[in-house]
Amino acid sequence: MPSYNTDEFKNRFIVIEGIDGAGTTTQVRLLAESLIAGGFSCIVTAEPTMNHIGQLIRTILSGEDIVAPTTVAHLFAADRNEHLYGKNGIIESLKAGSMVVSDRYVLSSLAYQGTTCGPRLPWLLNSTFPAPGLTLLFEVDPEICITRIRSRLKKEIYETLEFQRKVQNMYERMADRLSHKGWRIERIDGSKDIESVHQQIESIVLSFLGVEC
Ligand code: TMP
Repeated sequence: MPSYNTDEFKNRFIVIEGIDGAGTTTQVRLLAESLIAGGFSCIVTAEPTMNHIGQLIRTILSGEDIVAPTTVAHLFAADRNEHLYGKNGIIESLKAGSMVVSDRYVLSSLAYQGTTCGPRLPWLLNSTFPAPGLTLLFEVDPEICITRIRSRLKKEIYETLEFQRKVQNMYERMADRLSHKGWRIERIDGSKDIESVHQQIESIVLSFLGVEC
């Protein structure tokens, strides 16, 4: 098992989560910009990653490759392992003193692969990954999200209203389970405009970091 200082890890690793179209990518960027403007060193990252396993996952998400849902669960876990422990990974950045803000992490696998293959396997595959200090979970009506992503040129296999509704429910169930395990998870009302959502996030993160506004 790789070694790292859990407290250090907890204080500087933040994750944003939510169904497709919830706005996680925009808000990860805005949060990182605020942190950098506030004098923090901050790395922005995302899952699936840009490495080999992440790229393979993208071909599956696009529908180009078809594999068993359980294989997808294993691939996401492998991608995450490399994302954490590999070269230029999350642990390396945290050890170097940076904050890390990630667009998706363990909770995505519990919600999405929990929906496609049942919660047991994703729970097992993700059980050894460390908890972030703070997870921000977006709550937005799936209908609003589907409308937001309808205009995207590249479609992915999970982008249907029915599926996103199931993922939203699974997010709630799995977030409760992780909270019982000690994860700090805060809900964000993602239905508001970009600036209001950013302000909600900023105030939660500043209080998490113990910074006075
Ligand atoms: P995004 O790059 O727009 O966030 O899309 C990534 C897609 O991958 C999104 O549909 C969520 C899905 N996903 C999983 O199914 N499991 C995971 O563990 C992760 C990180 C993402």
